[in-house]
Amino acid sequence: MSSDHQKQQISKGVPSADFDYLFNPDPDDATSERILAETFANYHDHLNPGFITFKRSAKLDSHGVEWRGEGVYMYDIHGHRFLDCLGGYGVFTLGHRHPHVVKRVQQTMERIGMYSQELLNPLQAILAREISLRAPGDLQYVYYHCGGAESNDAALKLARLSTGRFKHVSFTNAFHGKTMGSLTATNRPRIQRPFEPLIPGFSVARYNSMEDVERLVQDDTASVIVEAVQGEGGIIPGQKEFLQFIRKRCDETGALMHVDEVQSGWGRSGKLFCTEHFDISPDIITLGKALGGGMFPHSALVANKRAFGRMAENPWWLTNTFAGSQLGCAAALATLEVYEQEDLITQCREKGAYLKSRLSELVQRYPGQIKEVRGLGLWIGFELHTADLGTRMADELFRRDILVAQTINNPTTLRFQPPFIISQEQLDYILSAVEAGVQALEKNPVGI
Ligand SMILES: Cc1ncc(COP(=O)(O)O)c(C=O)c1O
Repeated sequence: MSSDHQKQQISKGVPSADFDYLFNPDPDDATSERILAETFANYHDHLNPGFITFKRSAKLDSHGVEWRGEGVYMYDIHGHRFLDCLGGYGVFTLGHRHPHVVKRVQQTMERIGMYSQELLNPLQAILAREISLRAPGDLQYVYYHCGGAESNDAALKLARLSTGRFKHVSFTNAFHGKTMGSLTATNRPRIQRPFEPLIPGFSVARYNSMEDVERLVQDDTASVIVEAVQGEGGIIPGQKEFLQFIRKRCDETGALMHVDEVQSGWGRSGKLFCTEHFDISPDIITLGKALGGGMFPHSALVANKRAFGRMAENPWWLTNTFAGSQLGCAAALATLEVYEQEDLITQCREKGAYLKSRLSELVQRYPGQIKEVRGLGLWIGFELHTADLGTRMADELFRRDILVAQTINNPTTLRFQPPFIISQEQLDYILSAVEAGVQALEKNPVGI
């Protein structure tokens, strides 16, 4: 930077750019304090003041800034360690910075950065083949995006394109994301109302109601968007007959069945695709979160020929600049390698079954606090009797150095969503911390 320019910057009160202090992996105490203070101040002044006010609490004042992730652990800026049982809402199936994912991403970075947009991208193409080989039914084509909501919106567009219809059916208690189409399908007035009018043509059926599906899915329906297990709704598995009935009704009416596996997919439920538990073969599945190996934003829609066929007329209908990045595809391929070489999805099922059965024993012992335990794979909903108990239980676990969170639509429920690499010892630590937390709630029923 020229000295004239520097002077100009300084006279405007803008320091010259030098961020070295942010990139030392082991900052000293003074630097850690500086980063902590600057983070809070800048969230407040420049990022999202409401967010910082909402998040601020005694526990976050000292521990609120994350610095390092490794395996199942997350460390704050002062080096305090948390066992990550939240898993980034489903992102960290392999934990933080899995060495194989890091290796594949680094190997790619040494060769290429972002996608040229002009030449063909080999990792995109090969990942598409690998996904389609493992996907249920006749799903053959893959289209990438950078987040789950984006893939859901693209799937809604694809349904309109292939059916020539514009009506969609979604379900009560669903969560599909916050872009306009996904938000419209989400049916949560608190986050929808400020943005009305939403997209026309959506109707809402009750989750698990075949009667509603029969009534609302008609010959003018473009698609039905459904979670096979409602994640943010409280980790509520759909009934098999219900999901199979949607398939049947879609076949009768010519509508497409779109299963949103953004949270449930890519192994989290104990199968690579969550729909495998239900013996259904949708026309479109959307994936996100875990697809990027905990390393890079990556999402996708996976579609059959019926849903995707018209894309041949104009391959640019769904493009976006950053989707299908080399690094995201490398991370996704690396997760598949680790899953299969280490049989990690089987481990997810086995560890999940253990955690669920031990948590279920607590329901018998503490029926006054805990209502129900449910879920699939390492994705377990732990429902307390009230939202307040849910908040206090999350605090009890935080005090015992475990990160968890309530589900978005259903704050009575805590989600246990740890990485598949979690050890038996770590699972047992969680279980003893949960029991101690529930006992603390019992001793102090009003939470003072
Ligand atoms: C089922 C489901 N679909 C879509 C989304 C939205 O994904 P994203 O936040 O990546 O847009 C989420 C996020 O939690 C989700 O759980």
